[in-house]
Amino acid sequence: MESLREILERIYREALDSLSKASTQREVQEVRVQILGKKGSLTQVLKQLGSLPESERRETGKKANEIKKELEGKIEEALQRIEEKEREEAFLKEKLDVTLPGRGLPLGRRHPLTQVLEEIVDIFNHLGFEVVEGPEIELDYYNFEALNIPKGHPAREMQATFFISDEVVLRTHTSPVQVRTMEKKRPPVRIICPGAVYRCDSDPTHSPMFHQVEGLLVDRGVTFADLKGVLTAFVHEMFGKETRLRFRPSFFPFTEPSAEIDIECFICKGKGCGVCGQTGWLEILGSGMVDPAVYQFVNYDPDEVSGFAFGMGIERIAMLKFGINDIRLFFTNDLRFLRQF
Ligand code: FA5
Ligand code: MG
Repeated sequence: MESLREILERIYREALDSLSKASTQREVQEVRVQILGKKGSLTQVLKQLGSLPESERRETGKKANEIKKELEGKIEEALQRIEEKEREEAFLKEKLDVTLPGRGLPLGRRHPLTQVLEEIVDIFNHLGFEVVEGPEIELDYYNFEALNIPKGHPAREMQATFFISDEVVLRTHTSPVQVRTMEKKRPPVRIICPGAVYRCDSDPTHSPMFHQVEGLLVDRGVTFADLKGVLTAFVHEMFGKETRLRFRPSFFPFTEPSAEIDIECFICKGKGCGVCGQTGWLEILGSGMVDPAVYQFVNYDPDEVSGFAFGMGIERIAMLKFGINDIRLFFTNDLRFLRQF
């Protein structure tokens, strides 16, 4: 019959064997239970020690405890080995593929008004116009008086003005830059001037802050035919060669004669619809031959030089180009709106 000593040695060998085969933590735990659990093989042996004769009991007991300690260590090792292996496998499975293309950052884009402004500037640059700028907080003198709109003149009512003081206003149009430019420069003058302007206005087609591009060309012998040629070229570039346009007589205190330009309604193609108020036409700008009265303020000689000027609303042009029906959409910064351009 197998002695307890031999049994202990067999348990030890078998345990080492099982542990070396175990490939999961669960299998290791099973080995532990089979040997060291309440009914485990080693536990059984330890229980039987009491029945041994005194002489053997000490020796075998010592051996049994050594084996127990030893096996506990081996089990711990096996658990660690497996844990490490599992971690390594997880790493391999989740490893980064550094050759994958990167995830792009969301790109912003230019505001639709900026896009339209740049297009307008580009067209006039090609026609030889230079860009100049002027202040948004402006003297009454430049915004009105030097443009032939004296104090108390009814034409002031055409533009609801934000006054800062008696003499200082938020400019209501970009036309004061005409005067500032002519004050500094002798003809020939060929400029455009983009910028923000302010009026006490607010509805689907009027914003209290909006943008204009002013144009001014002064030289010897400039005629209304030049005005028509330049602005027709602009409309064709901006809206397409087929777009029909008309010059409609109008009035501005600083131009004479004056004309507003309408383009054929892009929705109904001139038949008349809700967008064009059944007229078939949409106004895009005001223009005219510079009034000789204005030349007096800048010491130009009206017998020597002549010229034309024009001013357009950028929001209105962007609304026409993109089919937008409410000017306020440009200023509420709703990304769902802005991302469409
Ligand atoms: C002027 O402001 C003149 N200075 C234009 C001009 C310049 C005429 C040079 C002759 C020579 P008007 O007030 O019509 O004109 O405005 C010009 C354009 O600005 C309008 O056609 C319209 O497109 C735009 N506009 C006017 N008010 C508003 C507003 N509240 N919101 C948005 N656009 C506006
Ligand atoms: Mg007008």
